[in-house]
Amino acid sequence: MKKNFPLLLLTAAAFSLSAAAADVFINTPKTTLMLTANNGSTPRIHYYGSRISPAQRQEVIDAMSINYDAYPAFGRDSYDETALSVTHADGNMSTELTITGTRTEDELTIISMKDKKYDFFVDLYYKSNDKSDVIETWTVIRNGEKKPIRLEQYASGVMTLRQEGAWITHFHGAWAQEAQMTEEPLVQGLKTIVNHDGVRNGMNDHAEVMISLDGKPQENSGRVIGAALCWTGNYKLRLETRGHYRHTLIAGIDDLHTAYTLKPGESFETPKLALAYSTEGKGGVSRAFHRWGRAGQLHNGRALREILLNSWEGVYMNVNQEVCEKMMDGIKELGGELFVVDDGWFGRKYRRTNDSQSLGDWVTDTEKLPNGVPALVKAAEDRGLKFGIWIEPEMTNSKSELYEAHPDWVVAHPTRELAMGRGGTQLVLDMSNPKVQDFVVGIVDNLVKENPTLHYIKWDCNMSMNNFGSSYLTADRQSHLFVDYHLGLRSALERIRKSHPDLVIQLCASGGGRVNWGFMPYFDEFWCSDNTDALQRLYIQWGTSHFYPTMAMAQHVSASPNHQTGRIIPLKFRFDVAMTGRLGMEMKPSDLNEKELDYAKKAVAFYKEIRPIVQLGDQYRLLSPYEGNGHCSEMFVSEDKSDAVFFCYKFEHFVGLQTPRWHMAGLDPDATYQLNEFGSTERSHYFEGKTFSGRFLMETGIDAYLSGMFSSRVIRLKKV
Ligand code: DGJ
Repeated sequence: MKKNFPLLLLTAAAFSLSAAAADVFINTPKTTLMLTANNGSTPRIHYYGSRISPAQRQEVIDAMSINYDAYPAFGRDSYDETALSVTHADGNMSTELTITGTRTEDELTIISMKDKKYDFFVDLYYKSNDKSDVIETWTVIRNGEKKPIRLEQYASGVMTLRQEGAWITHFHGAWAQEAQMTEEPLVQGLKTIVNHDGVRNGMNDHAEVMISLDGKPQENSGRVIGAALCWTGNYKLRLETRGHYRHTLIAGIDDLHTAYTLKPGESFETPKLALAYSTEGKGGVSRAFHRWGRAGQLHNGRALREILLNSWEGVYMNVNQEVCEKMMDGIKELGGELFVVDDGWFGRKYRRTNDSQSLGDWVTDTEKLPNGVPALVKAAEDRGLKFGIWIEPEMTNSKSELYEAHPDWVVAHPTRELAMGRGGTQLVLDMSNPKVQDFVVGIVDNLVKENPTLHYIKWDCNMSMNNFGSSYLTADRQSHLFVDYHLGLRSALERIRKSHPDLVIQLCASGGGRVNWGFMPYFDEFWCSDNTDALQRLYIQWGTSHFYPTMAMAQHVSASPNHQTGRIIPLKFRFDVAMTGRLGMEMKPSDLNEKELDYAKKAVAFYKEIRPIVQLGDQYRLLSPYEGNGHCSEMFVSEDKSDAVFFCYKFEHFVGLQTPRWHMAGLDPDATYQLNEFGSTERSHYFEGKTFSGRFLMETGIDAYLSGMFSSRVIRLKKV
């Protein structure tokens, strides 16, 4: 049963509110986060839910607000999890922060705090938003003491709520099985979601959770809070559930091996924690994050993404002028817009013929490409295609000219034998070192200098940070490496974006190993997974779309049998799965037979028609592959609700398996929509040209029969 009372309610006997409480209302179009911020006291969270007006403050208080510390520090009265733990200059490990003032600057509210005894300062930031229902929070921590202090734990933000029967949705995985979804009731104790990879922080767990307040998570109904930590490195999300069904989320940079020293006068800004609340289920939270991305958190979030062919699964490292031109011909014929040459194009002393050498030597392999990259760019442009290229800038191999010249540029401990990564020789460059940052920026600058019309870069990252140690950082700052690596990376990315704002850059890390909002201001899209099997992609894409807009999700049609699973899946199903994101291809088009080529051409043309709806519209996940008994469905609706496209899939087959009734969502209930189907192979074509009201399609739904294994339907809806 759904409950409509305010969602943050807790007995607050220990705290009383003065009538002169300084109230803070952080608003988005549909939500409010309410805190009190009295000078001399601590900032306290009282409410996060549907938008309320300041006049409703008393309702929140009278209902006995949750009244929880918005940034709990270790050492005084904290027995719960804390957000901050500091060793002060004199060795004291306790911190007691009280508010010295609160100010508002446009969308920002800044609550300034100071330790009662020490010159130690924390500014707690909240950013409201008038374009989507996402609130951002973070802190700036400053050492005003006379000697260095050590930050042991420095989380970004806190969210707390009280609700019995709450559930958590979280995402985890591994190579080729990213973003797998688990949903479970929140039970007493501490749930921790953590990443220790060092560089690829989306490879296993994701730094995002949804908390459903009305029991088992629903896609399009019920109250849900979503939280995403926007950071490119190791993180920790702690969700503590204690008596009275109180759940407190504390999210930030991981506190293992990351103690951070601040000299007198130095400060540290923690990464953003982004929060969304919706009464429209998980889908409502997803759509808030998607809109937030399109409104700015994703690089170039308003531009339509191109249909591309990537060379990897077509030829792997065996790229050369001839095979690339053949693939260009193929994608051009199909109606594609961009050709990307993947790994294998570089290396001179050590040629990139396999993955054990050459990373770092970003010069063309002239045996494969006698006329260099410019000849590939020209070949693409002669065909009316744009051109893109693969790099892995933060990495090297021990067999490379780069490593021979700069052995001190890699992440390494000074006394031990190196543990190598991919190919038995891969090493991570030390991005905390400004010289390495310059080198990484130079890779992109040089490519653009040599190829001024270069349109696209695929930025890969294929190993974890082994060999913890930096020859750039001093001995007493080794524990900065996990953080300074990413501050260095971020600084390099900022420089690249400043010089090349229009370059399309894809983020890749052995597939979807870096899917995190912390990266997205610098990247236009990401590769969801090295697994291109359409069945597994249904799960991977379903999970990923919970927080990320589908315009940023690179989804490629690949060969059958699939290279990762050996599965044989019809081309229509493969296209229908790939078309729900940024469509591309990852195969030699010449491997398609004539009938398939003809179908692929039509599919690419159809995708161009629906592209603005899929890439810029609102996504409604409908029937989950996790629950649909071998079926799933989703749809996209344009912001003005005049256009929509519906997808449904069947991926189980046995006698008696029933096709579900398909209920749509997100339509204008009072509008009439005409339905047209694309490329159906089903016997029944009942919907072609038929009209239905939005209300009927959502409430009553339609019976779009799916007959065989791997059958799928795509239905276009237009308001008439
Ligand atoms: C890993 C990526 O995920 C693949 O798409 C491909 O680019 C390879 N690296 C190339 O080495």
